[in-house]
Amino acid sequence: MTNEKILKISILGYGGMAHYHFERLSKLGIAKITGVFDTDEKRQEAARKEGLLAYPSAEALLADDETDAVLIATPNDWHKPYAVAAAKAGKHIICEKPAALSVAEFDDMTSAAKRNNVILAVHQNRRWDKDFIAMREIAKSGVLGKIYRIDSFVCGANGIPGGWRKTKKAGGGMMLDWGVHLIDQIFDFKKEKPSSLYCRYSKVLGFDVDDGFSAKFEYADGLAVNVRVETNTFVKLPRWIIYGRDGTAVIEDWELNGKIILPVYGSEVEIAGIEAGNGFTKTMAYRPHSSVIEQDIPNPEPDCDAFYKNFAAAISGKEEPRISNESVRKVLRVMELCKLSSEKNEVIKSELKDL
Ligand SMILES: NC(=O)c1ccc[n+]([C@@H]2O[C@H](COP(=O)([O-])OP(=O)(O)OC[C@H]3O[C@@H](n4cnc5c(N)ncnc54)[C@H](O)[C@@H]3O)[C@@H](O)[C@H]2O)c1
Repeated sequence: MTNEKILKISILGYGGMAHYHFERLSKLGIAKITGVFDTDEKRQEAARKEGLLAYPSAEALLADDETDAVLIATPNDWHKPYAVAAAKAGKHIICEKPAALSVAEFDDMTSAAKRNNVILAVHQNRRWDKDFIAMREIAKSGVLGKIYRIDSFVCGANGIPGGWRKTKKAGGGMMLDWGVHLIDQIFDFKKEKPSSLYCRYSKVLGFDVDDGFSAKFEYADGLAVNVRVETNTFVKLPRWIIYGRDGTAVIEDWELNGKIILPVYGSEVEIAGIEAGNGFTKTMAYRPHSSVIEQDIPNPEPDCDAFYKNFAAAISGKEEPRISNESVRKVLRVMELCKLSSEKNEVIKSELKDL
């Protein structure tokens, strides 16, 4: 297969995310979506109306010799069985995140892909998010001096989405839904293993899955990273805060509103005190404009189709997969340890050595 050949891709599970893939791939011109299979007849009908073939079963889809690859966009509990079946059928695979419900499941998927010589690419698309890339650029640029803390927050106000995301069996809950992205970003940014991890799941909404969580990763060099996901918070929290010895940066949202704030020191800088409740403070007073320099957040422009282009290039042997399966496995293991930490209410240390 060469890069010039248009890949024929069929989709398992034709819901919200599959439709997103369909639109992106249709515009890109390196792949053509040919058919789908969805257990919901309404989604089968929607596919037919869009000019796609609706296969009568997953087995029929996988048996089609015309198909080069499959895209798995079902609820999370179907990722493993479909990925293993697709590999056995000789199809390359794009699998939605979270790749699997456990490391053991993912090991079965990667073994099947290896045995059958097919590419298995997990759609960890948020490695190309521009807020994440801007955070990385700021942290690595040195503008803030030594970075000692990073906060990565995603806080929604609309509860857990309906349907399968509320059930344990289907792999619901916010750790598997959003945690997998945010933890993946942190482990892509910081390659060293953390020295400790502490996580608390939130279940305030009363489902059998978590409706959010708060996790803290500490590193030997003094960096601490807080990752927090909430679905019941009605004030807007910043997406990222980056704390350095010489300044602080805030990225408010996915549109990259925010600023880098650097203090100015010198004899001419006078820090005024403020009234604070029933008292007065200089220590906790915000700095006036005259004693800080404000800089803009960088505005990177990542290629939002890089994942698909890399998938096609990996199939033709021209590039290594950008989302390595080792990195996917590591994040799944970290999520298992977050769950363990939350269940035991304990800081995890020794298990991190095997990451
Ligand atoms: N990477 C991202 O940014 C991102 C964003 C959203 C969702 N996702 C992932 O995409 C996947 C799908 O999420 P969604 O939001 O599209 O869910 P969805 O509920 O909108 O769609 C899932 C579809 O799968 C179908 N389905 C259920 N069981 C099936 C089976 N056994 N075989 C075939 N079809 C089946 C459902 O009928 C539904 O149409 C999940 O794994 C989710 O985590 C990823």
